[in-house]
Amino acid sequence: MPYEKRADGREMNELRPIQAKVGVVPNADGSALFGAGKTIAIAAVYGPKPLHPAHMKKADTGIIRCEYNMLPFSVTERARPGPSRRSKEISMITENALAGVIDLKRFPGTVIDVQIMIVQADAGTRCAGINAAAMALAHAGIVMKEMISSVAIGKIDDKIATDITKEEEDYHDGEGPTDIPFTITSNSKEITHLQLDGYIQTHRFKESIEAAKIACEKLNEIQIRALKGEEIDENKEKEK
Ligand code: CDP
Repeated sequence: MPYEKRADGREMNELRPIQAKVGVVPNADGSALFGAGKTIAIAAVYGPKPLHPAHMKKADTGIIRCEYNMLPFSVTERARPGPSRRSKEISMITENALAGVIDLKRFPGTVIDVQIMIVQADAGTRCAGINAAAMALAHAGIVMKEMISSVAIGKIDDKIATDITKEEEDYHDGEGPTDIPFTITSNSKEITHLQLDGYIQTHRFKESIEAAKIACEKLNEIQIRALKGEEIDENKEKEK
């Protein structure tokens, strides 16, 4: 049956209700919570600090080290604790997505550790983790060339859908499910991370870039508001 309407009543270009708050891990140098619908991520930043083991040190630059993990009960079928192929891949793409906007040359010989914990998962966890991490880095006072925001775009019955849920991510529209996570910088609108899982035609792909840019602009506004001290929970705003 063709997909008539999004199950949660959203427009095709609408984000899920967003939650955003900084300072959620007081012992970290910077921290943030970012949620989109039922997906919730917490990021904590430690550093810049001296890098051990010393042989990994780079004299002319700092490095960023990200670790993405899911809590065992963040998903319906318990996720096995500890690193997996998936978590290693997501940690790596998160590092790459962030490295471009941090002036690591300012921190020679050091490491910035970014711990990302997915406390609840309903697709788009890598994007939520990146959004939380970017906020946590800014909250730690680490100078960033620009902010970054991340969103997963999907395709449902040939229509581009913003910020897809797990149900939408798994939806088979004849060509198969399509999931395209993007990370985009706030000013120059450069894509620092892009993955494609599934199938998409060129013109639809171009549309998905436009949808991601619009969504990331909205996300960026929310991230900035949270960094100014606002505690954002659009779930509560909707209930009012
Ligand atoms: O979360 P994201 O969309 O970035 O990555 P994914 O690998 O495409 O996973 C999509 C979703 O599958 C996750 O957000 C979870 O809701 C679910 N998942 C799960 O239930 N159990 C896992 N071990 C991994 C993912």
